[in-house]
Amino acid sequence: MIQPPGDQVGVDDLSVHIPKLFLSAAGEFSSARDINPAKLTRGIGIEEMAVPDAHEDAATMAAMSLLELMKRNDISPEEIGKIYIGTESAVDEAKAMGTYVIGMLEKIYGEGSFQDCSTVEFKSACIGTTLALESLSYWAAQEDDGRVGIVIASDIAKYPLRSPGEYTQGAGSVSLLVKRRPRLLSLEKDFGSFTKDENDFFRPPGASTAVVNGKHSNFCYINAVTGAFDAFAKRALRKGTIRLKEGECLADHISHLLFHIPYPRMAEYASAAIFRHCWRSLPRWEEVEAEIGSEPKPSDYPSFDLFTLADADFGKRFARTNLFLEEFKAKVLDTTDISRRVGNIYTGSIYLGLASLIELRKLHPAERICFCAYGSGCSSLVFSGIVQPDASSLPSRDLEKRLDERKQIRLEEYERLHEGKMEKSILQPSEEFALLSIDHQGYRHYDYLD
Ligand code: CAA
Repeated sequence: MIQPPGDQVGVDDLSVHIPKLFLSAAGEFSSARDINPAKLTRGIGIEEMAVPDAHEDAATMAAMSLLELMKRNDISPEEIGKIYIGTESAVDEAKAMGTYVIGMLEKIYGEGSFQDCSTVEFKSACIGTTLALESLSYWAAQEDDGRVGIVIASDIAKYPLRSPGEYTQGAGSVSLLVKRRPRLLSLEKDFGSFTKDENDFFRPPGASTAVVNGKHSNFCYINAVTGAFDAFAKRALRKGTIRLKEGECLADHISHLLFHIPYPRMAEYASAAIFRHCWRSLPRWEEVEAEIGSEPKPSDYPSFDLFTLADADFGKRFARTNLFLEEFKAKVLDTTDISRRVGNIYTGSIYLGLASLIELRKLHPAERICFCAYGSGCSSLVFSGIVQPDASSLPSRDLEKRLDERKQIRLEEYERLHEGKMEKSILQPSEEFALLSIDHQGYRHYDYLD
């Protein structure tokens, strides 16, 4: 990343918006779908899924998280140079969602107040926001008129009713304030990427729910993230950003690993793949092998399929080793805290992980955080940031309290909202942006309702 000498660019603050309705995974939902609740709470790692009300869409949620960010930081519209939005829940095929968002914010700050701010939408499945952040940080590094940039993630994760994807839904938005001399996190300069054409998850034009090849999507995710982590590691070591001592690996220099979280168990699968990958050439691998035996080699098996099965089994046993469990608890588990109660918010999920660490007060100055972003289709981007001395001075967002105050809805209400059959909102909109109507041309009308 281009940065002026002695100056840093990164995330100064973040805000989160989560719909006020939720569906509990265990109970009515699990019994109606004939699923053992332990499969959802332990096997998938989900307790509750956020559900958007009839007046909400990805644009209203984006406007809500942006409004909170502006209020928290006393930012006026004239100070914002760019608003980049990562979403795969676009409300229009051509018009940028950011223009709707600006239209909503101008109801509060006055017409034309965002005129000198540009906006663009980044579509790249769940990695869109991360690519937006990367791009915006180049701009922020060059900006010499004191303006800041905003990156917004906003999505509704939606799969067909009664499909295996159904219990990995959710909704929400995260806004990031990106600027020089950030209070929260300064981005380091090394990025590692991985891109490959895959059919793991996509949404053809006109479809309201994603097409997903579930097991294959898990494989693509792990393959891409491991590939991007390798590219990141090589770059960071070659450039001397991170220097290893004898017996160390790159992961030893990372305090928290943040992953895209389609469901919390995925962060466990992905971190197991990364640690296994990093540790197998180190002396500590002897401790792993003493506990679970040797890692399978392709040459030991008559076919690649049999090797793959043995390798997957070894991977499961690795994820139960003491060494992995300690590292997972120290560096990954806390990042899934909010996701357990919100579900997948697609492109914002990795930043919801960052919000979990902030709200749990787990970030400490000078720690290195590594982001392992994934987007179906597929691509991964791995990069790092350093926690800044002022990080703990940022006021809490009271997310746990806000989650506790949500309304639990019944299965029948969730299904009607899901199918777009709910004519009126379950909760009357209050102090929030709302979609009022869609006119005969397809233009959307929004307002802020007190
Ligand atoms: N108690 C405890 N655990 C149980 C259980 C029980 N009674 N029953 C099952 N489980 C465990 C299983 O053993 C398994 O855990 P292990 O891997 O440790 O063995 C876990 O629950 C999951 O069960 P299944 O393997 O049977 O998985 P599934 O058929 O329910 O499908 C899924 C899971 C593939 C994620 C599906 O929900 C899906 O397709 N989701 C949408 C796609 C997705 O999220 N993909 C992730 C990668 S792609 C991506 O990240 C982009 C994105 O946002 C979509």
